[in-house]
Amino acid sequence: RLPDGIHCAADYSRLAAGAIDAPTLAYIDGGSGEDRTLAANRAAFGRLGLVPRLLPDLRGAQTRLSLLGQELAHPILLAPVAYQALAHPRAEIETARGAAAAEACMACSTLSSASLEEVAAHAGPQRWFQLYFQPQRAATLDLVRRAEAAGYTALVVTLDAAIQAPSLRALRAGFRMPAGLRAANLADYPPTPPKSPAPLPGASRIFQAATRDATTWADLDWLAAQTSLPLLVKGVLHPEDAGLALDHGAAGLVVSNHGGRTIDGAPASLSVLPSIRQAVGPGCPLLLDGGVRSGAGAFKAIALGADAVMVGRLQVHALAVAGALGVAHMIRLLREELELCMAATGCRTLADIHDGLIHRFHDY
Ligand code: FNR
Repeated sequence: RLPDGIHCAADYSRLAAGAIDAPTLAYIDGGSGEDRTLAANRAAFGRLGLVPRLLPDLRGAQTRLSLLGQELAHPILLAPVAYQALAHPRAEIETARGAAAAEACMACSTLSSASLEEVAAHAGPQRWFQLYFQPQRAATLDLVRRAEAAGYTALVVTLDAAIQAPSLRALRAGFRMPAGLRAANLADYPPTPPKSPAPLPGASRIFQAATRDATTWADLDWLAAQTSLPLLVKGVLHPEDAGLALDHGAAGLVVSNHGGRTIDGAPASLSVLPSIRQAVGPGCPLLLDGGVRSGAGAFKAIALGADAVMVGRLQVHALAVAGALGVAHMIRLLREELELCMAATGCRTLADIHDGLIHRFHDY
């Protein structure tokens, strides 16, 4: 049964505090540093409205799209989110069932609580695997082979997590990773030495950590040569990085600041989206995440150049509040909110959504 009081997708976030303990919610909801980028992600959507059109002809209207040669029923995807056992005992298995019921493509994290094989067994046909490069190439390659064998149809290669700035919100709330929490996919790989050994005298702890096992663009070339799965590079915020990623084997990009969890002060994803679209041209598959909490948000991102959007925290909130049913319901609400925006602006297809339908509230 669905919980009472859910009237829009974002209501799941409102109810999350009743389903997740306060320190854990601070870890999930927090951004890095003082949450400035986190807030900017949301504020960027708030500055935009949409301009309705009168008496549109909406016969045959629908939300389908083709992405990387894959047919999707709608442009709302689930972003990779680690350790979903923090939100629900059956973790990503529930998320996968909810996504399948709502015809949504789900990206399973390298750091999932359930194994990628278990997730695949419950997911729909549209499933992507999010890959973090591992310190040993053999482990990275094994993850790729396992994802291929389990029927994942694309790899989302997240490159923005090398630098992890602490979340002051999580620290102040006293959050600690529960002792039993594990990344099921990595359980069989040899343990790696701790990330940040004591720095040598005079050396920088930060630079030392960022240099060890550092991924390079050559690693992306290597990955592209190992698999026929399309690669989507996630974490792009600079137009030059968009070009570099495509030069080194990416088939598409996700404009993202990791939900405001990388370096505080990074721009809102929506703010840089138009410059990235301009850099890559009209044909490049381009997704956006960060701050999408409504179907109107999806509409705005598509109008500014995205083909589709991903939702991170909203999926965890829905999972915690109502499991698979909550995830499916949340996606359905987002889809209906998007359809409402399309109907009001006279868009019969996603291709009809364009910048001319966007209103800038603070332009006066
Ligand atoms: C994330 N994100 C993330 N990204 C990724 O590529 N691999 C991962 O394992 C994780 N894990 C993760 C955990 C938690 C708790 C959060 C909140 C986020 C980032 C995620 O994919 C996405 O970029 C953001 O969540 C999008 O922003 P919103 O929708 O949360 O505003």
